[in-house]
Amino acid sequence: MEFPIRRIDHIRFYCGNAKQASDWYHRIFGFDVVAYAGLETGLRHEADYLLGQGEIRFLMSSPTIPDHPIAPALGRHGDFVQDICFEVDDVDWAFNEAVKRGADVASEPRTLEDDFGKVRVAAIKTYGDVVHSFLNRDNFSGLFLPNFRPVNKKGQSVGLEYVDHIVGNVEWGGMNKWVDYYGRVLGFTQLVHFDDKDISTEYTALMSKVMQNGNGRVKFPINEPAEGKKKSQIEEYLEFHGGAGAQHIALHTGNIIETITELKRRGMEFLNVPKTYYDTVTERVGEIDEDLTAIRELGILVDRDDEGYLLQLFSRPVEDRPTLFFEFIQRKGAKSFGKGNFKALFEAIEREQALRGTL
Ligand code: FE2
Repeated sequence: MEFPIRRIDHIRFYCGNAKQASDWYHRIFGFDVVAYAGLETGLRHEADYLLGQGEIRFLMSSPTIPDHPIAPALGRHGDFVQDICFEVDDVDWAFNEAVKRGADVASEPRTLEDDFGKVRVAAIKTYGDVVHSFLNRDNFSGLFLPNFRPVNKKGQSVGLEYVDHIVGNVEWGGMNKWVDYYGRVLGFTQLVHFDDKDISTEYTALMSKVMQNGNGRVKFPINEPAEGKKKSQIEEYLEFHGGAGAQHIALHTGNIIETITELKRRGMEFLNVPKTYYDTVTERVGEIDEDLTAIRELGILVDRDDEGYLLQLFSRPVEDRPTLFFEFIQRKGAKSFGKGNFKALFEAIEREQALRGTL
């Protein structure tokens, strides 16, 4: 059933130290630091930094008091994606309808207010400790939310444009439950399905279904582990994260060669595929516009589907735990997710798992 969502408004991370985390995203990814709320602005229990690049908005938050309600989850997971916030036309309708369709309540609708106007918010629970908040700021002329003050810290953009997709890793056997949740509660439809025959190597396997909202602007692949000879990357994630959570965020760029070149120069770490991957790349994907020498040197992956091709590269985990990582993706017509790269990619992940002693 239809469920109008305008777009992903922002992604909120709870962090041990949002001051330092936001600076890392500022220096490495080139995010602007746009706004701040904390003790100095009258927010007593936490500090929030709003980061922006293109249409992407990350909110980095840290408790400033010992008994902040998020403290147990933060201790359990480490820094984690806690909220994937949707901008909607009508927060009360969205919240009531989602709850009527079976969603669990995270927070009841309420109004945030300052001199710039009013913002209505509410939230429902999804997998793990992640929530989807609903937000509408049509009656607000301020920067982001009430009681944020502007910060003018411009970043050196690496060309990131928008959130392409966000992947959730869920518990054993949980994929269909969450696929059903996104369909039933939020009106998403299933775009693709990969089973363990598509996504397996000698050692590990996983299953995945991709869910998409009505206007196509929100895409959520949902992964669950499958039986393999050794521990899959999804199991490793579930173990270290302490349950289900967001595995990776894919950010779209208009020029992946420039984006990756700059990210590498700034010290971002990526997964490496063997150079032999490029021996057959032209056979697999045909002609592409980009310079293959640069693609090979940067280790960028290429895949093709019926509608075009895509270029993508995955970072190593961005935390001490082998949990959250980023994908950088440039679509040249392709609407798929790089199925042709899964094998090379998972073998690269397994080499890293082996080094961690968790394969
Ligand atoms: Fe992805």
